[in-house]
Amino acid sequence: MARTVVFVNQKGGVGKTTTVINLGAYLALQGQRTLLVDFDPQANLTSGVGGSAGKKGIYEVVSGQASLAEVTLPTKVEGLFLVPSSIDLSGATVELVDKEDRNGYLTRALAPVAADYDYILIDCPPSLGVLTLNGLVAADEVIIPLQCEYFALEGLSLILQTVSLVQKSMNTRLKVGGIVFTMYDSRTKLAQEVVQQVTEYFKDRVFRTIVPRNVRLSEAPSHGLPVCLYDSACIGAKSYEALAKEVLARDGRGPAFPAAPGGTKTAEPSLFASEASKGSIDG
Ligand SMILES: Nc1ncnc2c1ncn2[C@@H]1O[C@H](COP(=O)(O)OP(=O)(O)O)[C@@H](O)[C@H]1O
Ligand SMILES: [Mg+2]
Repeated sequence: MARTVVFVNQKGGVGKTTTVINLGAYLALQGQRTLLVDFDPQANLTSGVGGSAGKKGIYEVVSGQASLAEVTLPTKVEGLFLVPSSIDLSGATVELVDKEDRNGYLTRALAPVAADYDYILIDCPPSLGVLTLNGLVAADEVIIPLQCEYFALEGLSLILQTVSLVQKSMNTRLKVGGIVFTMYDSRTKLAQEVVQQVTEYFKDRVFRTIVPRNVRLSEAPSHGLPVCLYDSACIGAKSYEALAKEVLARDGRGPAFPAAPGGTKTAEPSLFASEASKGSIDG
């Protein structure tokens, strides 16, 4: 059975799509059959892995014109698949509002393929509207990408309120999988403070792997490639590789994290994976 993870933050530009693409790619490279579901009408995930938004996609699935399997596309990474989106999905927001059980569309769409994948990762638009609610209802867990800046904290409580509402009324199995820091710039004191504060509060709900600001991560989607196929040696690639290993360790699907080269556990918790701490911000 697939583990279904939804990536939610009502702020745009915090690294949701980048995280879905690159975490997904490294999960696939670790042998996990992974499906990326683009549930944002902006279709950044679709173009970011080289898919075309002109084809049939998730809108046709939720509106009953196609099955999920019919619209699923392979990507350039073996074991990584894409359900594309398009601007048509913004129409669904309006169409769904009046429907009974309007938050269950994505759950019903994904059900027939749950046995075909190890992971299903859902990318959501930057809002807590009907599309994101569909994502939260369909998921086993929610991961919150958080940009290391002051305003990030303000939005966090609203996300957690929404999650707890969904947990109470629509999806009792939903768990907060964790918070992943993105676009971390170690040169700013504020970034360090945000990490420190959020970690003090959320403790082990915070992923130890922190994704630094890295220009390669922002270049890769314009080539339609996950960073593993664009520049697998850059620090951004190494950090998403580490995040994938951390997710697998946490799910009991891989060795303990962080694992030292000999396979033994290191005693010191590290914010960056050991390999990722080498190299410069933009290298
Ligand atoms: N770690 C990072 N370092 C540098 N640029 C990044 C990083 N993560 C994301 N970006 C860039 O920031 C922008 C917003 O990221 P994106 O993943 O699209 O956010 P969201 O999906 O939350 O709107 C994109 O241009 C993306 O390429
Ligand atoms: Mg996005």
